[in-house]
Amino acid sequence: MTTTYRIAPSILSADFARLGEEVKSVIDAGADWIHFDVMDNHYVPNLTFGPMICQALKPHAKTASGLAVPIDVHLMISPVDALAASFADAGADLISFHPDASAHVHRSIQAIKSKGVKAGLVFNPAEPLDVLEWTIDEIDLILIMSVNPGFGGQGFIDSALRKIEHARKLIDASGKDIRLEVDGGIKADNIRRVADAGADTFVAGSAIFGKPDYKAVVDQMRQALG
Ligand code: DX5
Ligand code: ZN
Repeated sequence: MTTTYRIAPSILSADFARLGEEVKSVIDAGADWIHFDVMDNHYVPNLTFGPMICQALKPHAKTASGLAVPIDVHLMISPVDALAASFADAGADLISFHPDASAHVHRSIQAIKSKGVKAGLVFNPAEPLDVLEWTIDEIDLILIMSVNPGFGGQGFIDSALRKIEHARKLIDASGKDIRLEVDGGIKADNIRRVADAGADTFVAGSAIFGKPDYKAVVDQMRQALG
């Protein structure tokens, strides 16, 4: 079976003064998902954007031929449930949260799914995958952090590769259709290693938005993925 790989540019590294255009450009460049990093200056030491910006970007998240491009919301916030519901109402297609940011992980997953949105769990570099033992049957996405959350442009933490391998085994054993996404420090020159560890979806912020030609970077990444 061949794996479908998805590239999810993180607009954290986009030009915030021209966000709608940036979303369009990166979709023209071949983005499969738009990764939307929500930071609250509490769970992480940085502050970004809320549901109103997600709602404003939603009409821009489509291909030139009008196909919708999923908005992949990565919540780095605590508490989770109320804002997750607001993002669902704002047009998010997938919403992921950090289990250590929610007092009731299962309830937060249900809160997201009850809105008809796909739900994911995110794991920091030092966080074990233990909670998956009791939640993997409920979720659509596992997101492995390969940097500590809060900022773009950090270096890839190699121990994430072992965690990706572990998550891949858990997904295969579950028999469920679950995306395995990796976030932080991904570039054209390391994306192949991340895919070989078992990932199928790749977030990239600075690697794409830090270069003038987004398509050239996305093409290089796809070439590396083969
Ligand atoms: C970090 C965010 C990432 C970030 C990745 O907290 O979750 O999505 O944008 O940026 P790069 O690709 O530059 O590491
Ligand atoms: Zn992210």
